[in-house]
Amino acid sequence: MPSPRLRDQRISDGVVREARLGTAETAARTRGSAVRNERALRRSGHDETDRPPFVAGDGHRERAAGSGEGSSEASSEGKRVRKTAVVTGGASGIGRAVAAELARRGAHVTIADVRGAEDAAKDLGCAGVTCDVSDAQAVRELITGVAAEHGRLDFLFNNAGIAVGGRAEEFTLDHWNRAIDVNLRGVVHGVHAAYPLMIEQGYGHIVNTASLAGLTPAPMMLPYTATKHAVVGLSLALRAEAAAHGVRVSVVCPGFIDTPLLDNANPGLPQTEIGLHARTTAVRAQGRLYPVESLARDVLRGVAGNQALIVAPASARATWRAVRLSPALAVRAAGSALRRITR
Ligand SMILES: NC(=O)c1ccc[n+]([C@@H]2O[C@H](COP(=O)([O-])OP(=O)(O)OC[C@H]3O[C@@H](n4cnc5c(N)ncnc54)[C@H](O)[C@@H]3O)[C@@H](O)[C@H]2O)c1
Repeated sequence: MPSPRLRDQRISDGVVREARLGTAETAARTRGSAVRNERALRRSGHDETDRPPFVAGDGHRERAAGSGEGSSEASSEGKRVRKTAVVTGGASGIGRAVAAELARRGAHVTIADVRGAEDAAKDLGCAGVTCDVSDAQAVRELITGVAAEHGRLDFLFNNAGIAVGGRAEEFTLDHWNRAIDVNLRGVVHGVHAAYPLMIEQGYGHIVNTASLAGLTPAPMMLPYTATKHAVVGLSLALRAEAAAHGVRVSVVCPGFIDTPLLDNANPGLPQTEIGLHARTTAVRAQGRLYPVESLARDVLRGVAGNQALIVAPASARATWRAVRLSPALAVRAAGSALRRITR
């Protein structure tokens, strides 16, 4: 189902956003004006290309994490400028926790989600936009709309995703296509819309959520594993190009996190035994699910430090290290872990 365009999308305070961005032409115009605003800011001394995010511009560095500030900075006139962030999949789980933490630190946050954006936005004091990330036009309108409204786009968290689980032989093409549409194309659409704008600004940070499954031979979720490996590859390659433009790219690779995702595998798709018991399997595999608030803090700490890969919790980093030491052994270990877990 195509998502409603921005013109139909309601912001959390109940105001209906007008159809300023209805055509590609107007979208380009608003993007141009966002960039012009930004250039004016930079001419006035507000140039942050060489500054890490979460830095207050009043002469001293805020602590990157937990400072309660840092998502704003002062211009040369001493006026505080709030940073602007878009979080896709921000109505639930990891996206919601990241959005909450960013809002707490004073950023202008827009939550974009296929469902529940408005309610989450009200709870967190953010803006909320209904947007399906598999719809390229909707994502472009989201990004250009936010940049035009605030005159800047500091962060894009391409976080929306779905879990797809089952044995390789059980997957229909629908499983593959949904995983590709949301988990991979969703990220592609965000990058395609935001990256040129960030190049023109001369700054910005794209943070893509992949998974530990994007770094390891994670079985029983092939479409998921494939899309998450693609997101890791896309992110690291883009990071290499983007640095020359002052744009940053990070990729988040969490182990199992305690979110509703684990209760909702294969949404709208034929269900599988593995999908039905995703939470139980995750607990068996990892021992304990990592709290989402802890991950959100890890993510923002990694973003502030401009880390390429943000892998958490510690057990996920240990697994990732083992895979790098011996990929062949990792495949064998994945097979035996699977037999143990699914026994
Ligand atoms: N929970 C975990 O164990 C875990 C582990 C590794 C990676 N991840 C990744 O983290 C990201 C967030 O997952 P989560 O655990 O917070 O799950 P979640 O289900 O709690 O949140 C995902 C959000 O994405 C939204 N969404 C789904 N399809 C969408 C679409 N087409 N357009 C816009 N929004 C859409 C959902 O409505 C939901 O609000 C996902 O990319 C997921 O793959 C999760």
